[in-house]
Amino acid sequence: MQTLTVNLGDRSYPIHVGEGILPRAGEFLSQAGLRGKVAIVTNPTVAQLYLDAVHEALTDAGFEMIPILIPEGEEHKNLKTLASIYDRLITERLERNSCVMALGGGVVGDVAGFIAATYLRGIPYIQVPTTLLAQVDSSVGGKTGVNHQNGKNLIGAFHQPRSVLIDVTVLQSLPPRELVAGLAEVIKYGVIEHPALFTLLEEKIDKVIGLDRELLVQIIATSCRIKARVVEKDEREDDYRAVLNFGHTIGHALEAVTDYRKYLHGEAVGIGMAQATAISVHQGFCDQRSLERIRKLIRKAGLPADIPPDVSRQSLIQSMEVDKKSAEGRIKFVMCAGIGRTCFHSLAPGEILAALGA
Ligand code: NAD
Ligand code: GLY
Repeated sequence: MQTLTVNLGDRSYPIHVGEGILPRAGEFLSQAGLRGKVAIVTNPTVAQLYLDAVHEALTDAGFEMIPILIPEGEEHKNLKTLASIYDRLITERLERNSCVMALGGGVVGDVAGFIAATYLRGIPYIQVPTTLLAQVDSSVGGKTGVNHQNGKNLIGAFHQPRSVLIDVTVLQSLPPRELVAGLAEVIKYGVIEHPALFTLLEEKIDKVIGLDRELLVQIIATSCRIKARVVEKDEREDDYRAVLNFGHTIGHALEAVTDYRKYLHGEAVGIGMAQATAISVHQGFCDQRSLERIRKLIRKAGLPADIPPDVSRQSLIQSMEVDKKSAEGRIKFVMCAGIGRTCFHSLAPGEILAALGA
């Protein structure tokens, strides 16, 4: 097991990454100073697979568990789901010193985190991420929230967890497409901050996809360490935290223009990273060789790298213009300046279209 720390003063917390972490959940909750009632927010798929194991671990350690199942899927990351959870917490009389546990992927994590941020003006919560995306990204850093009919993640709060428990064994049951989508974020960390992680992925991506547990612990811990360092520098995304959006400007636009149906988030980010790097080369920030390596790794992971011909480049630009990363007619990009290096640069729509070859 590896334990890292997110250093945020009195809101610092550990991230435990390893095999067999779930059966030790009670021990980790006690270590985090928690006791009493634990409301476990999860969904039917994850509950069926892992709720019994968590139940046993918590009961053995003297906790009282209140399971709260929410419907599966991004379309339920909304105010209606929140309302039903608040009702349960009030009925079950959870108090200020009770805690919430998010057991699931990023949807469950974002919902449960927001509940913890707002119930009784804030109670502690624990992240137990069960998708690769949640293990390397959404469970760390304290962004919580839900969608509004007018846009994704429009209602939210920063609320750091007390602890993050990452058990790599749960990835065994994850559908392969979800695993590969999570790898996009791992590749992102290599590109933005960590050439050695990038090289490791180039050499061993097949073993990662084959769920080599030692390798999974290594790449997940490295990813969380990178995210932790970024969050420590800029917790509330005043500036530097936006580096984590590498590949996401075009990725989000692709998701939006395809009605969030065609791509998983990580797949759209795969295309977004390849295209953002191509734009970086076109603008003179990046060398051709880095672009080739990034494209090759994205494809080797099983992710798409190209914008499909039936998606209009103009519609992508329009979508980027209404996104929060646009100001004064220019769109803010995280540029790749070679593997392990980035810079921020804003581009006019015409420059983006020219770089995309439109
Ligand atoms: P998800 O939560 O929808 O999970 C994907 C699917 O995997 C679901 O069907 C889920 O039931 C299933 N699943 C989860 N764990 C499983 C397991 N171990 N075995 C079998 N099936 C399992 O999707 P996601 O990709 O984890 O998260 C996406 C969400 O995360 C989005 O809402 C996004 O906005 C959010 N997000 C938040 C942050 C943040 O910083 N807060 C960062 C990135 C993404
Ligand atoms: N996923 C981007 C962030 O946490 O800031």
